[in-house]
Amino acid sequence: MKITICTLFEEMFEPFFMTSIMKRANLQDHVTFKTVNIRDYTDDKHNRVDDYPYGGGAGLVMKAQPILDMLKDIKTNNSKVIYLTPVAPVFDQKKAKEIATYEDVILLCGHYEGVDERVLSQVDEVLSIGDYVLTGGEVAAMVVVDAVVRLLDGVISKESTLDESFESSLLEYPQYTRPSEIEGLKVPDILLSGHHKNVQQWRLKESLRKTYRYRKDLLKKANLDDDAQQLLAEVIKEEDNH
Ligand code: 6GU
Repeated sequence: MKITICTLFEEMFEPFFMTSIMKRANLQDHVTFKTVNIRDYTDDKHNRVDDYPYGGGAGLVMKAQPILDMLKDIKTNNSKVIYLTPVAPVFDQKKAKEIATYEDVILLCGHYEGVDERVLSQVDEVLSIGDYVLTGGEVAAMVVVDAVVRLLDGVISKESTLDESFESSLLEYPQYTRPSEIEGLKVPDILLSGHHKNVQQWRLKESLRKTYRYRKDLLKKANLDDDAQQLLAEVIKEEDNH
């Protein structure tokens, strides 16, 4: 996969691309990262990329010209152009999986009060990362890149992406590692028992507990079998008694 980030702040991406899993994915050729500075495409003699909004109002709008010229220059036949903006559907794991199938992704980061609406004529998709307002699309682009790159074949183990949160519409179960006791806090006995079946049952129940506690909205769309329904009934009793 090739990922191109279009931004006014290229320097934000260097440490992100050069750290941990992103770095390894790049070194192992699962992904190539590129940044493009939108300012390099402005025709303005003072290098301006923003201007006042028609109709008045607070803030500045990113001009159409630099972005349209930039996209003409960098788009290929199979580029997917994604504009990061709060005025968009919210990015989720399903969307991450879809984007992970794209070959050539261009992420456009807006700033100020957004971009001139005519830029959207050259955009394939718009994405938000949640219901809050960021100063620009850069951090959102990193969120999308991180979630997508870890899904690319060979980047992390298959198992790591199977059992995790949202894969089954449930939050992930609690994890523990050595030691088995610290400051009087013990690892649940069942995890030390070596009894695989019981461990699985416990994990499912604790997934249900976390989801019930923190994200009841996810339980509504979860597809629970009889066993899981039974465990959820137990969890609800236990939680509501607390
Ligand atoms: Cl993609 N951009 C900005 N500026 N704010 C956001 C966002 C994106 N997603 C949530 N808030």
